[in-house]
Amino acid sequence: MIVYSINLEVIFLEKLVINGPTRLAGDVIISGAKNAAVAILPATLLINGICTIENLPNISDVQISCQILEKLGAKITWISKNSITIDTTDVCHNKAPITMTSKFRASYYLIGSLLGRCKNAEVGLPGGCNLGARPIDQHIKGFEALGATVSVSNGKIQATTNKLVGTSIYLDMVSVGATINIMLAAVLADGTTIIDNAAKEPHIVDVANFLNTMGADIRGAGTDVIKINGVKELKGNATYSVVPDQIEAGTFMLAAVASKGDIVIKNCITKHLECLTAKIIEMGANVEEDGDIIHVWCDKRPKKTNVKTLPYPGFPTDLQPQLGVTLSIADGTSIINESIWESRFQYTEELNKMGAKITAQGKTAFFEGVSNLSGAPVYATDLRAGAALIIAGIIANGKTELYNLEHIDRGYENIEEKFRNLGASITRIEE
Ligand code: EPU
Repeated sequence: MIVYSINLEVIFLEKLVINGPTRLAGDVIISGAKNAAVAILPATLLINGICTIENLPNISDVQISCQILEKLGAKITWISKNSITIDTTDVCHNKAPITMTSKFRASYYLIGSLLGRCKNAEVGLPGGCNLGARPIDQHIKGFEALGATVSVSNGKIQATTNKLVGTSIYLDMVSVGATINIMLAAVLADGTTIIDNAAKEPHIVDVANFLNTMGADIRGAGTDVIKINGVKELKGNATYSVVPDQIEAGTFMLAAVASKGDIVIKNCITKHLECLTAKIIEMGANVEEDGDIIHVWCDKRPKKTNVKTLPYPGFPTDLQPQLGVTLSIADGTSIINESIWESRFQYTEELNKMGAKITAQGKTAFFEGVSNLSGAPVYATDLRAGAALIIAGIIANGKTELYNLEHIDRGYENIEEKFRNLGASITRIEE
């Protein structure tokens, strides 16, 4: 984080200093899923009452979500660093300013939630990682189909309606955000809404489970057709625990392979990681599952492989950079095709500074495996790139300094402590 003094002089800059190489070994406990938590929090706006949310990841995206909810009139009590009670009974505002919404992507869920609650939403445009174009036309198409008038101007989105009425909506492409946002708007609408070509990610199921626990009637989440029977009210008075983070678990699985290490990953849903497990075995590493535990170990250089990122249950784009680091030291040349985001190979330039041999052309990157990386000063270009560069620093010879930590803090709870507990030499310092 950069902090400015009054005359705009930079007074400090945080960085991670990583000394490698380390073979990671030990246990790690996975936190709640960022992408579920940041949708469940705005979803509480649909409740007329109090609810408790547990297993919230302690990350900056969750902190800012809570600050926005408080600004809208919600009363939040922190029970522990990972659980809150939230009372949305007195929420009376329907405006979220761009100064807050631009800090993260998931602020767009305030539109669906406020539209459902107040029939009127004025929400600043979302921010989030720079992964290329991130349109929200499918969200808007869904709100309009439900009967809202939507306009975008002066850095904000306005959506208004007299009444939301259930209808059938076919998404032109599989979109996590549009699926959840339409679901949020439809929960209190009159009649039945059907979302066709819906996304199937685990966090979509989790948001639907949360809303159903609070009194909604959503069926089919996790398939490509979701049916939402509108209800009059969500009463709350219930406790919900956020699903474990599939991407955080996958990050540690790949860290085990890249560092030729041995990691026991606890509190994960193994079913959500099937495609990664298959890839890791293909790369010559070992995976053993036992209930909510995945054990990954690797005693030789990983083999090359090819991957195309796809919506769930395909290979997640959010694990692509972590896989990229692993392939940068694999035996042979691997190819990754990124089919979701147009600019998700920015991290490859940083990895090349560490001795990797990666050529990225548009949506395809070629990873010519080298036997070792070497430490260098590098910059996290986005959240998952940041996690990938931590792994790179851990496996590289010598000292790596990693900057732009605000990206990483948005989505990983205690990441350096978790890696330190696995043996990594990693320290956060102010410069
Ligand atoms: N798209 C459109 N129009 C839309 C919506 C999406 O063209 O209205 C396109 C996007 O440009 C993209 C594709 O559809 O090419 C998929 O986008 P999606 O809507 O699924 O992405 P998102 O909801 O903006 C979420 C996660 C991302 C993750 C993607 C894909 C959250 C807050 N973000 O983004 O997570 O990469 O789904 O799985 O849930 C991350 O956690 O690091 C991250 C970037």
